Amino acid sequence: MAASEAKVTEGEIYYPSEQVRERATVQEYESLYQRSIEDPQGFWAERAEELEWFQKWEKVLDDSNPPFYKWFVGAKVNIVHNALDRHVQTWRKNKLALIWEGEPGDMRTFSYHALHREVCKFANVLRSMGVKKGDIVTIYLPRIPEQVIAMLACAKIGAAHSVVYGGFSVEALAERIEDAQSRVLITADGGWLRGKIVPLKDTADEAMARQPTIETCIVVKRTGQEIYMEAGRDYWFHDLMALPIANQTCCTDEVDAEDPLFILYTSGTTGRPKGVVHTHGGYMVHIYTTLKYVFDLRDEDRWWCAADPGWITGHSYIVYGPLLLGATSFMYEGAPNYPYPNRWWRMIENYSITVLYTAPTAIRGLMRYGDAWPNRHDLSSLRLLGSVGEPINPEAWRWYYTVIGKERCPIMDTWWQTETGGFMITPLPITPLKPGSATKPFFGIVADVVDDHGNPVAPGEEGYLVIKKPWPGMLRTILKDPERYKTQYWGKFGTMYQTGDSARKDQDGYFWIIGRMDDVIKVSGYRLGTAEVESALVSHPAVAEAAAIGLPHDVKGNAIYTYVILKAGVEKSDKLAEELRNHVAHEIGPIARPEQVTFVDSLPKTRSGKIMRRVLKARALGLPEGDVTTLEE
Ligand code: WT7
Repeated sequence: MAASEAKVTEGEIYYPSEQVRERATVQEYESLYQRSIEDPQGFWAERAEELEWFQKWEKVLDDSNPPFYKWFVGAKVNIVHNALDRHVQTWRKNKLALIWEGEPGDMRTFSYHALHREVCKFANVLRSMGVKKGDIVTIYLPRIPEQVIAMLACAKIGAAHSVVYGGFSVEALAERIEDAQSRVLITADGGWLRGKIVPLKDTADEAMARQPTIETCIVVKRTGQEIYMEAGRDYWFHDLMALPIANQTCCTDEVDAEDPLFILYTSGTTGRPKGVVHTHGGYMVHIYTTLKYVFDLRDEDRWWCAADPGWITGHSYIVYGPLLLGATSFMYEGAPNYPYPNRWWRMIENYSITVLYTAPTAIRGLMRYGDAWPNRHDLSSLRLLGSVGEPINPEAWRWYYTVIGKERCPIMDTWWQTETGGFMITPLPITPLKPGSATKPFFGIVADVVDDHGNPVAPGEEGYLVIKKPWPGMLRTILKDPERYKTQYWGKFGTMYQTGDSARKDQDGYFWIIGRMDDVIKVSGYRLGTAEVESALVSHPAVAEAAAIGLPHDVKGNAIYTYVILKAGVEKSDKLAEELRNHVAHEIGPIARPEQVTFVDSLPKTRSGKIMRRVLKARALGLPEGDVTTLEE
């Protein structure tokens, strides 16, 4: 260990092996970190120099109008130029960019040349339809290569994409289309999941009926069953790609560093999902740097981020990050346990995956089947593991570390959010690890745990997790709602970004994330708002009022429990409870299906009529109800 490294003293500690440490891009943390936060702009500008810009920035950070920060002001760039165009000018042209396996076992691969070609063709198709800068294209696809192609094609021509996770359903899709005012929707006939077809086009048809802004719907043929195609509105992807207009050459738009790259909706405390806005320049620099330093990706690697491109994890670390680094990525369409619980381990062996990045819920889910399944496979290609989405419980951490990583592969537990764009608190391959802790802030990131007044709390004490200085990958605003951006993230502490998480820092300066402090529930790592579940319930004709809370669950982390007041005259029954659970799944998506629907006659509320979910939660867990002075009698 370098002399300048801080001592780690407290708790269960795992040291990375000499072999891992030697290979690491960054050999030292403490002094580099100190330097990076004394001059974050200098740190990020140096990283930005490693990428190509059509025109350099005049200013690294414009902080004249906080919290509306701007990065790399005056620069001209396009993330796709750095992710694809520049690689096809080098030997990487014939390197694999993407290896994909479908759930039924079919396989496709794309070299950088091939991916570039497909993106050019599809970009030309979109351009010919009049898609341009200022437009937001909605993408609703399964985990197939066209997802990547569609996102990159939008970015290439300066349009923003809004990817809606393929597991979302009618209302979730409709309200995202409406908010973005999308004219073009890209979807598929279906996707494969657990041997069944997820009928995406049917859902899209229902959503389009609710939100008629869509003029053109492009449909990828994946599952092949008969679907409804509306003349003049719906077109097959493969038909369009065969047109002369789908030329293989397509110039990349030179956009401003601050032009929007994408909108990604995420659940917040109240009401409808928020459209988080990310840009070409700063976002690119942030995810490029974090992926390079944290996972040390090199040309010999085969990287597998097992998330869905429909979430920020997929945007940053399936699509853009690995391509920016010229890496080879693996992507898999289906369920981890289909047809057998060894599916993932078999693919790691088959494709010689070197880094696996996944979520605690997936690890817990696979852990249930026992060690025999992974032990049947040669997992020796792995050199690093990753975790994201929620705190990883030490039991799952140890299993992942021992049974999957064979005690050779450090686990990079990365804390970040849709809003942060990329990793914020994370180990490096040289960091001594403690199971359950995301360890320390990344270079240039000033994180802290503070009390109600914004003062740092003592080591070991719980408080609000905040970020004290702007960073390049930060969200710029909420689409069409800058006020909400201001109040939601900067309202409480003014100059500090409020993450919505509670955390504590130990004696060694390690961060331990506790969980959300707001009305956000993390179900299997997916972020859902209590308000969304409640409004889905209330949209059912039998329901007068509803409340949703998250309660601990062995595999999912949290599960949704709901309390429903029925309209007068409606009879309670198990059948109705089941119908309501299905109704929520139909409106939002299967991930939102409540674990339980309990019929009640009243809900605990404040005098101003706000549901006290905290009280419901305490009651469900048999805990003291805490301060109930504001409770209405
Ligand atoms: C929330 C953000 C960032 C990609 C996936 C989630 C929780 C995320 C960790 C971690 C503990 C974590 C936080 C955060 N979270 N990573 N390593 N340890 N908690 O993105 O859907 O925007 O959710 O996920 O609560 O606020 P997201």
